Amino acid sequence: MNPVDQKETLSIDLSRFEEISHSFFEKLSGEKVLSFNIYDQNEQIIFHAGKAISREEIQEQSKQGVRFFIPRISEKVGNYDYEIFSRDKLQILAENTASTYSSVRKTGKMTYEQYVNTHRDMIELLNSLKSEDRYGGVLGLLKDINDFDYYTYVHSVNVGLLAMIYQYKTSYNADRIRSMSMAGYLHDIGKLRIPKEIVDKPGMLSKQEMAVMLEHTREGYRILADIEKYAPQKKISDLIKYGALFHHRKYMLYGYPNRKERDGVSREFYFKLPEEVRILGICDMYDALTTNTPWRKGTEPSTALRAILNASNYYFSVSDVHLFLKALALSLNRGRDFIDEGSFVMIEAGGRTMGKEQQTPTTYEFARVIENFKGRPVNPRIEVFYDATLNKKRNRIQIDLRSDNYRKIVRVIDNPRMTAMLRKLFMKEN
Ligand SMILES: [Fe+2]
Ligand SMILES: [Fe+2]
Repeated sequence: MNPVDQKETLSIDLSRFEEISHSFFEKLSGEKVLSFNIYDQNEQIIFHAGKAISREEIQEQSKQGVRFFIPRISEKVGNYDYEIFSRDKLQILAENTASTYSSVRKTGKMTYEQYVNTHRDMIELLNSLKSEDRYGGVLGLLKDINDFDYYTYVHSVNVGLLAMIYQYKTSYNADRIRSMSMAGYLHDIGKLRIPKEIVDKPGMLSKQEMAVMLEHTREGYRILADIEKYAPQKKISDLIKYGALFHHRKYMLYGYPNRKERDGVSREFYFKLPEEVRILGICDMYDALTTNTPWRKGTEPSTALRAILNASNYYFSVSDVHLFLKALALSLNRGRDFIDEGSFVMIEAGGRTMGKEQQTPTTYEFARVIENFKGRPVNPRIEVFYDATLNKKRNRIQIDLRSDNYRKIVRVIDNPRMTAMLRKLFMKEN
């Protein structure tokens, strides 16, 4: 290939990617596992993070004229004094959603045309994002909900926005960003086939009502699969259908649908779901916690973010929770930290590493947050002082979680009795 051809085939955005030399890349081959995706000159991933690559594979690609790129690491930590989305545009999207949804409720199905219009509205919103939104910006969701039915529309819009921005901040693949946005936006579409009296009922549902309500996941899948039936040449991405079907699956709880698989099978199932679907479950919980409804006042963003962190190893896996928080915590909390300096946290050490069976036993520790770092909401400097697995004091060490892949915060202790007890233990040795 002559240099002119090379120049012409280079369609990668160099402000976002940097080229790595062939010889540098070869140094990463062998036993080492890639910690980032490697892209070619067309912005396609050629080697995935978490994979080990051989020298032969690199040479083979390079012989075919492939050049290697990695995402540029941004030093920016972000500005959080502007809204990512314009309020007016959001309002229009909410109103369009309301009219589409009320027609879907009436007919029990979504037409291909409605799907396409919805898609267009979402893409318009996506196109309005500026590149600096990747590093900052406040993600304000729709919060004013006046009537019961409006809740489903607004919730759909909000989960769509959360999913969109999550993917926008963590991925450079336009298709993935679009599918994730749609998956979030349509995750609860099945609720439109559930009787309104049940969906909008404040307070507890009876056992029978609950059984009907749980069906919104399967109904959602059916509505989306039916669009393909009516327009056979059109394909709705699996991710969007799986989002509707599986957004209530949980890590340690049974979740639904298919809640029969018990005895740990459920957890294996959870890990087989695409990462996007698992993250959708977290977006769903965030919006449910923070939105005011006619029967319940929403919590502050920081409270909801702590609740999500505290659902690690329970509703969600620790690694997914950390992905979500790293991408969105600052935008949702207006650039402020949601874990206060001085608070006590529980740390998980070891545990499951991506794509591998557990190699080291998982242990737990208590620590105090000493110092937060700008732009790193879940990686403060901490002082570990208690071994929670052996239930005894341990040598105190200070650890910078920005450079410790072995430890992760899994709980922020918010119970006053527990906090008082930990404070006592912490002070004793000082
Ligand atoms: Fe749902
Ligand atoms: Fe939902």
